[in-house]
Amino acid sequence: MNKLNKLISDDQVLSEFYEHLIVLSEVDSTNNFAKNLNEKKHGVCIYSENQKFGYGRNNRKWISHKNKSIALSIILKYKNNEESSLIPLISAVAIRKTLFEFDIDAKIKWPNDILVDSKKISGILCELDYKADSENFIIVGIGVNVNFEKTDFLNNPKMKYNIEPTSMSLILNKTVNMEDILHKILKNFASSFKVNRSELISYYKKYWFDKDKNIEVLLGNNLIKGTAIDIKKNGSLILKTKNETKEVASGEIISF
Ligand code: BTN
Repeated sequence: MNKLNKLISDDQVLSEFYEHLIVLSEVDSTNNFAKNLNEKKHGVCIYSENQKFGYGRNNRKWISHKNKSIALSIILKYKNNEESSLIPLISAVAIRKTLFEFDIDAKIKWPNDILVDSKKISGILCELDYKADSENFIIVGIGVNVNFEKTDFLNNPKMKYNIEPTSMSLILNKTVNMEDILHKILKNFASSFKVNRSELISYYKKYWFDKDKNIEVLLGNNLIKGTAIDIKKNGSLILKTKNETKEVASGEIISF
């Protein structure tokens, strides 16, 4: 994997966007590692070949397997909420594009779950590292099930709202090269930031899983039911409920 740092420095698009890649043979969680770095810098990436205690949204466990999973965190500096609210969607678009380069046709469940045939192949967790009067960072944690076999899913915790998992190798019936996928993710992630907002949202909507589905969204402790009708330019979900049209800036869809 150290070859990848060379790939970054040799590639203009990558070297303009990324600072460097830290490759760890083992870690608890790449997001934790990124959050605990004393000196954060925009564009630093953390990749681990063996993430042992990964976590996802709502503190759920995220299972990775040694050299069979992408566990990657990217540190980005952001200026304001407007900028940070689109990052989950930009990340989802980057992963959907990456999978398509492997002939995998994925859909995006708002805001950033990546599904193939309604099964989850990748999850993204964006965590804000906000400190008043200092630079603000967002940690984008990307997990992809790459070379999982069916038995690798046996230990997945059966949790409420969990979607059935799948992997690239199960879909393609072949093993995927880990450096290749990591390289493609880094490229698509960097280039998705250059796409203008309306193009980004229209790409997102083209592959939007929830469109016109009756869903339930968990907003803190509130459960809101409605039909998913649109995604706004700021990345919010537009939900048509019984009595009103509601804009949801963040939350989690728990049924579809
Ligand atoms: C989710 O689907 O809830 C998001 C899962 C995010 C998992 C990734 S793997 C890399 C990074 N490190 C973590 O501990 N979590 C994210």
